[in-house]
Amino acid sequence: MARAQRKPINYMRHLISIADLTNEEIEEIFALADEAETLRAGKPASGHIMATLFYEPSTRTRLSFESAMQRLGGSVISCSDMKASSTAKGETIADTAKVVSSYADILVVRHHWDGAVQAMAEQADVPVVNAGDGSHEHPTQTLCDLYTLRKEKGEIKGLTVVLCGDLKNGRTIHSLVYALARFGAHVVTLAANGMALPHYVIERLERDYGYALTPVAADALGAVVTETDALYLTPRQPHQLALFTQVDQVIQARLNTLATGLRYDAFYMTRKQKERMNDSSTDSGYPTIGRDFLRERRFQDTVVMHPLPRVDELSPEVDKDRRGIYFKQAAYGVPVRMALLKFLFDRRTQKRSAVKRQTISYESPERLGPQCRNPNCVTLKEPVSSARRFELRLPGQDDALILTCSYCDHRFKVQFAGNVKSKRYYFFDGALAPTLDEWLRNGDLALFDSIKEAEELGYEPFKSGPQRMLMGDAEIRNALAEMSEQILRDCRDADRLLILGVRSAGSHLAQRLAAEIEKRCKRKPEVGEVEIYGSGEEVRRLSPADTDAGALNLKDREVILVDDVIFTGRTVKSALSIIFRSARPQSVRLAVLIDRGHREVPVKPNYVGKHIPSSEEDRVRVRLRELDADETDQVVIYSIVNSSEKGRKLERQPGAASTK
Ligand code: CP
Repeated sequence: MARAQRKPINYMRHLISIADLTNEEIEEIFALADEAETLRAGKPASGHIMATLFYEPSTRTRLSFESAMQRLGGSVISCSDMKASSTAKGETIADTAKVVSSYADILVVRHHWDGAVQAMAEQADVPVVNAGDGSHEHPTQTLCDLYTLRKEKGEIKGLTVVLCGDLKNGRTIHSLVYALARFGAHVVTLAANGMALPHYVIERLERDYGYALTPVAADALGAVVTETDALYLTPRQPHQLALFTQVDQVIQARLNTLATGLRYDAFYMTRKQKERMNDSSTDSGYPTIGRDFLRERRFQDTVVMHPLPRVDELSPEVDKDRRGIYFKQAAYGVPVRMALLKFLFDRRTQKRSAVKRQTISYESPERLGPQCRNPNCVTLKEPVSSARRFELRLPGQDDALILTCSYCDHRFKVQFAGNVKSKRYYFFDGALAPTLDEWLRNGDLALFDSIKEAEELGYEPFKSGPQRMLMGDAEIRNALAEMSEQILRDCRDADRLLILGVRSAGSHLAQRLAAEIEKRCKRKPEVGEVEIYGSGEEVRRLSPADTDAGALNLKDREVILVDDVIFTGRTVKSALSIIFRSARPQSVRLAVLIDRGHREVPVKPNYVGKHIPSSEEDRVRVRLRELDADETDQVVIYSIVNSSEKGRKLERQPGAASTK
């Protein structure tokens, strides 16, 4: 099947993400919602048709949209069951969007794939509204949530909202947390075990809205909400625990004060999104709100919200209490969606771009190129209806080359960059960033997920300056042995020890450290890894590998975070952020094979294999036999002498190793 022709992005005024609306536009929609009865009398949608395409079940979103359209004087066409539509015959979402957009003036779409609504919007000739796409976003629910908060509490700025439950898969949460940040609210996250806010969401909160993340003492909230640890997201960045490698007494005390000093304005509860989980991940405990919550004096003015439907995480006892406002929240769905429809109809003729953040867009000029790693992304589920398009963040020195999928927002790291004219590919290096920027502007930048991909397209490897060996096989072995002894000397309780590597070189070193520790104390500590740029589990078990061992538990553990090289400290900072979001370890100490002695963030390793002071131009690579069977263990240093194409001496360089 031929690839569907794509329209320029944002040709039409769609609502796919909450980022498609400015704060002022949201306020404008709320002002319209306040006048819903006047709107109704004016019948502004008279003669217009709305099509609802719901590939997933819905009560509130679908019916409130349909009610809103009818109250505005418009009419509705729909498929009662998408399985009874031509989808069942294999019609693509792109074709469906194209066809139905010629029958209606606006499409409201819900789909189970992340990014599916964006893909449909690219084909539609009328505005498309995202009524929920996979685990990604649910922007109109967020409009209802913000409207409810505003009605109940007045200004959103300065409120503290506790987001509770399945923060990983809950699309309402993702849209809401961005909106709360934009309106200047404080956010406390209380995630169910293994359902923490994804790192790509946290990273965007930090990068786009200047939010910082701080763990809050669990017992500050634990009295009323069980099974969880809390995190505090705040625009003021008072404490950045994620930058410390040790949870010491002083910081803990400060955090306790912070937590008890908080005024909680709203609890936003969510159900476990079972439909997005595999069966094995549905059995652990889940936070609940009930009578205990209502009895607590400090929550006497805390409203309880829920996007609904609820399962058993929110007791019906709360229904009768004045603080339980979730049915009101659902009822606001009609005036808010009336206002949104009016807002979008008024802008039909404005072919202006939405307000999404300014980014560099990247599409591979080659037939092969990077693929989103989110298995539920539309680009993997139905490639013909989408493009492999990404936002590209060009890194600073020693940072990674990160792509963000334009459909689902998941981020991942790319290691190989090539030039389409010279047909050379490079193992990515921060020093290449200005060159890559130039290639990107000229349309010459080709990115690859693997060497195989580059070589299949006829690219040849590029090699930078001469290399010098800094550590050989024996020295690396001795360094790991020495570090394992130091770790055991500092360890308070070997049963609590957990060795956690930063994927991927750090993971291998973590396994080796664990083996050294086993030699010395006759018991092998548990080993896991942290995935900083992935789209799956951020913390996972490596050993013991048997499935009976269950998910890796970080709570109250003595964690040794392991990486190959520390340079700017940013990688370690991200890993610490993930650890503290996952649970509350007793302590985290940092072990690195190489410390390059330059830091942009205040992270200090506790155990170092070798100190190698080196300039920013130097590159240090740790080669491990686990990463490449043809390699022996060694650490090498080399320079990027000239990042331009001209005048470079080319020589062959094996690629699969870690470079920092
Ligand atoms: N809140 C929400 O999206 O509800 P429905 O799934 O019933 O539409």
